[in-house]
Amino acid sequence: MASTPSPAGPRPGTPPPDAPRPVEQAATPALLTPPLALYVHLPWCVRKCPYCDFNSHAAKGALPFDDYVDALVRDLEHDLPLAWGRTVHSVFFGGGTPSLFPPQAIDRFLQAASARLRIAPQAEITLEANPGTAEHGRFDGYRAAGVNRVSFGVQSFDDGCLRRLGRIHDGAEAEAAVKLAQDAGLDNLNLDLMYALPGQDLAMAEHDLERALALRPAHVSHYQLTLEPNTVFFAKPPADIPDDDLAWDIQERCQALLARAGYAHYETSAYARPGRQCAHNLNYWRYGDYLGIGAGAHGKITLGAEQAILRRWKQRHPAAWMAAAGTAGAIGGDERIDPERRPFEFMLNALRLHEGFALADFQARTGLPGNSLDAALAQACERQWLQVEGDRVRPTALGRRFANDVIGLFL
Ligand SMILES: C[S@@+](CC[C@H](N)C(=O)[O-])C[C@H]1O[C@@H](n2cnc3c(N)ncnc32)[C@H](O)[C@@H]1O
Ligand code: SF4
Repeated sequence: MASTPSPAGPRPGTPPPDAPRPVEQAATPALLTPPLALYVHLPWCVRKCPYCDFNSHAAKGALPFDDYVDALVRDLEHDLPLAWGRTVHSVFFGGGTPSLFPPQAIDRFLQAASARLRIAPQAEITLEANPGTAEHGRFDGYRAAGVNRVSFGVQSFDDGCLRRLGRIHDGAEAEAAVKLAQDAGLDNLNLDLMYALPGQDLAMAEHDLERALALRPAHVSHYQLTLEPNTVFFAKPPADIPDDDLAWDIQERCQALLARAGYAHYETSAYARPGRQCAHNLNYWRYGDYLGIGAGAHGKITLGAEQAILRRWKQRHPAAWMAAAGTAGAIGGDERIDPERRPFEFMLNALRLHEGFALADFQARTGLPGNSLDAALAQACERQWLQVEGDRVRPTALGRRFANDVIGLFL
């Protein structure tokens, strides 16, 4: 994914390059439009998992796939003025369980989106899949529709752990699902694993990772189980969740296993084989732009002409969102991000990346001068949380460990 601004051409209201610029403007860096991505939320699951706080709803009866796709197209059309003339560099179908949608529905949406938006020919197009929904022929259909990356929610290969997590598949089904996708020619696969699971010890967590690595995925996301408010696990936490020391040991051990297997740790929870980092997520972490369509989807768009950053989110409930899609009634909220808040938002994302960020990108994506960070950067460097080399700012290993404290300096 290019980290340069998208080839959007001059934006309305910006002066031609050789026009004299007012003195105040020359002193303040301009907010430039970064690369653009498209997030599409598909909100249903076979069953709600007890740890999950995503906007996902257990399917009751037949799902309205066609009506939902029609609503997605209306929602996209309504948001199009936010992105005129810009190119989409990645598409992500997230959920919920997007793999509940038949390939024909994904195909119809992608065709409709391509007719309305410029999608780069090499765009990464990811679909999240629950292994319990995999069936023969499905992945060929997704691939034919244009999907070129699948992200499997495996969580664990241990049948006991999977039962405790309320999953709808066992370990063997997860392996079979990944192989079905590989047989369909999809080689850019991510496996989501969670660790520090109820009843899990170090050997079990290592064994989960070994089974994942045996499938040779391009990418692994390794998340520590968190107890999120408004979940069953939060209300009634399992008694045997590993303590912080064990969770730390699991993380260290698994990091070493992943490194030995050739996966670079490039973000807090993300590991990739060379060239297989997730372009869509990288764009979030680099404070890029994205349209968010579908129930509860969030978007962030830089409005060059207004020198503003807009966050827009959609109504969360699928039925309410579908009924209003294509009108302003589907919008849950619009918020312009004050310049004072932008450094914190930028750091919240950029400091997850081991590569950190370039000060030039901070300026372009927040519209603020790099020296507005001087005081916080000096403190962070003194505590050895960050290091600055020329234009680049990187978190140290210590900084990654105390990430919340580091980010707090930029509030
Ligand atoms: C929206 S789910 C996508 C996959 C699909 N819905 C599934 O579960 O098979 C995204 C991922 O977030 C992770 N996740 C969800 N809830 C979590 C929690 N409470 N703690 C840690 N990771 C979590 C899981 O690894 C999950 O696969
Ligand atoms: S299948 Fe995925 S999105 Fe659905 S409830 Fe479980 S973790 Fe959440």
